Amino acid sequence: MEKKLAKQEILTLSQQIEEHNYKYYVLDQPVIADQEYDELFKRLSLLEAEFPDLKMSSSPTLRVGAKVASGLKTIHHSVKMLSLDNTYSFDELKAWFVRVFKGLGTDKVDFSVEPKIDGVSASLLYENGLLTLGATRGDGEVGEDVTHNIRAIRSVPLELRSKGGVVPRLIEVRGEVYMDKMAFAKVNDERKARGEDLFVNPRNAASGSLKLLDPAESSRRKLRFFAHSFSRIEGGGAIKTHAEFLAMADQFGIAINPLNRSCVSVDEVIDVCRDLERQRQGLSYDVDGVVVKVNRFEAQRTLGETMKSPRWAVAFKFQAYQATTTVKDIVVQVGRTGVLTPVAELEPVACGGVTISRATLHNFDEIERLGISKGDRVLLERAGDVIPKIVKVISQADERAEVSKLPANCSSCRDDFIDEDPEMVAYRCINPACPRQLARRLLHFASRGAMDIEGMGESVVEALVEKGLVSSVADIYTLTKEDFLGLSFFADKKAEKLLGAIETSKARPLSRLIFGLGILNIGEKASLLLARRFSDMETLSRAGADEMMSVAEIGEVSSAAVLHFFSQKETRDILVKLSACGMNMKEPEAVAAGLLFGKVFVFTGELVRWTRGEAGQLVKDLGAEVGVAVTKKTDFVVAGEGAGSKLDKARDLGIKIINEEQFEEMVHGKK
Ligand code: IVH
Repeated sequence: MEKKLAKQEILTLSQQIEEHNYKYYVLDQPVIADQEYDELFKRLSLLEAEFPDLKMSSSPTLRVGAKVASGLKTIHHSVKMLSLDNTYSFDELKAWFVRVFKGLGTDKVDFSVEPKIDGVSASLLYENGLLTLGATRGDGEVGEDVTHNIRAIRSVPLELRSKGGVVPRLIEVRGEVYMDKMAFAKVNDERKARGEDLFVNPRNAASGSLKLLDPAESSRRKLRFFAHSFSRIEGGGAIKTHAEFLAMADQFGIAINPLNRSCVSVDEVIDVCRDLERQRQGLSYDVDGVVVKVNRFEAQRTLGETMKSPRWAVAFKFQAYQATTTVKDIVVQVGRTGVLTPVAELEPVACGGVTISRATLHNFDEIERLGISKGDRVLLERAGDVIPKIVKVISQADERAEVSKLPANCSSCRDDFIDEDPEMVAYRCINPACPRQLARRLLHFASRGAMDIEGMGESVVEALVEKGLVSSVADIYTLTKEDFLGLSFFADKKAEKLLGAIETSKARPLSRLIFGLGILNIGEKASLLLARRFSDMETLSRAGADEMMSVAEIGEVSSAAVLHFFSQKETRDILVKLSACGMNMKEPEAVAAGLLFGKVFVFTGELVRWTRGEAGQLVKDLGAEVGVAVTKKTDFVVAGEGAGSKLDKARDLGIKIINEEQFEEMVHGKK
């Protein structure tokens, strides 16, 4: 090939590839398939190999370069990399506003309000538009040269884009290098498969990856970057506000967070904080708070900075999803099907907005994997509605106790444990009369998604079992006021209330009853599908395997479980008793069943008539599902008071938005 043509093609290919990197990693809008991208890349590599002197220093093939031979070089930051002061409540945040207004002598101040990305700080130097240095923050004054890894981040342009042809002679951009949740899960899966230590969270994973010596490995970790500030701009780009800086970075092709907002009042800022906290879990990356910045540089200069942090910016931190605490004990719980589950009892600690005092360890393998024992200090994690999880042991107790595989206080079952599988992950208690299993079955039967008997909690159920007042779920319905008054913690009123709740539960639809009976493998959704297909208990109990499997989601295993369940004498006895006490055994024809079946609802804001949980249960009873985030699969977004960003998302995606009245019409039919 002629050199001149090769030169032209190398230039075009380099530009095309960088354009695709930009569309994919900065705009999140890829326009070609991965394979086509790979072909362009291969073609460019081939030409560069043939004409090495034509290879450009900003060639996309140079993103992943050679390994750094021996350790990372240290870098003295020309302008110190500060950190931010934290606030942990709106009151503390408001106190910051008061200081700012006082410092500026006015409350007419505009702000930039941005997600605080939970990653690692980095500083990127562009000289004449070319990326020449990438450094970690280090202690703020001295960091490490990680240019090789920064270049491997595809959302970082190697060369600034310049529409009008002007880029500053020098610009030092600062921002956050982070790993999104999906990449984090993948990295950890791979490490697990190789038997390597897992990263505790995406931030640690990003930090570790950024400091690798081999950019090829770092590149595989799929790091990303958002710019959030700058330290120097020389030669071009006279800007007066932070918002202008963000717009400029955006023009240069540097990724900035699309969730950044401008606000002109304290109330607006607080609204954005609330909104971001609501969105937090649905985001593809970890956000640990909100950063509020005074927008105008002149005002920033007036306020100045302390040794550690600027006075013109502050972080509002969300409630932590993680906390550390001590393991008081490890006990073994018996579930309603007899499975033994080890549970860690913890020194109570606040995490994700609630106090946590116990966490399931799932099975005995998990105990081994964590290497956990009584007295250890552990890292705990809880996100939103998700059950708390022990991530790892931080420091071990001086004296470590062997964990017993038998529940401490279940003497009646001592001889009846069997190993569920040869790996000894799960154990099951096979005593059919095991009182602890019975207690769990009753608790499940009375739970929210099942018969919803308010007041029938753990202590009540355990007392009933201990006194021998119940031996199956059917016995709940023959309990008398005297029975309850015989339990130490019941007085007249409480007993009457509970009896009332028991009576009310008799009218629940068949689907809830099926779920409450706790058939193996039959969850809420399958229960509903079975109830809809067979309408009443009698028909369901006589259904054959084929008929059962014609129901979506019911496969061989589930249908076998249902058949087995109905073939047992105990089941028949329970059903006879339930029927005798007037239990509803039919699935009502739901007004909106046809309309709502299989639909996905997302709730946002506060409803007046129902709590979120109640509204969710209503739609579930009608065969619909409840989603946490608005996606393309969402059918309806129900918007209550103070609805937030989910609404914008719904509008963007063209998803039907309904208000509370319309929702009520849907679930209860037109009045
Ligand atoms: S502005 C003068 N904006 O949070 C400090 N920081 O201690 C300017 N961070 O290490 C920082 N998201 O790397 C700013 N939108 C954002 C941020 C952000 C995350 C990090 C930053 C810094 C830490 C604050």
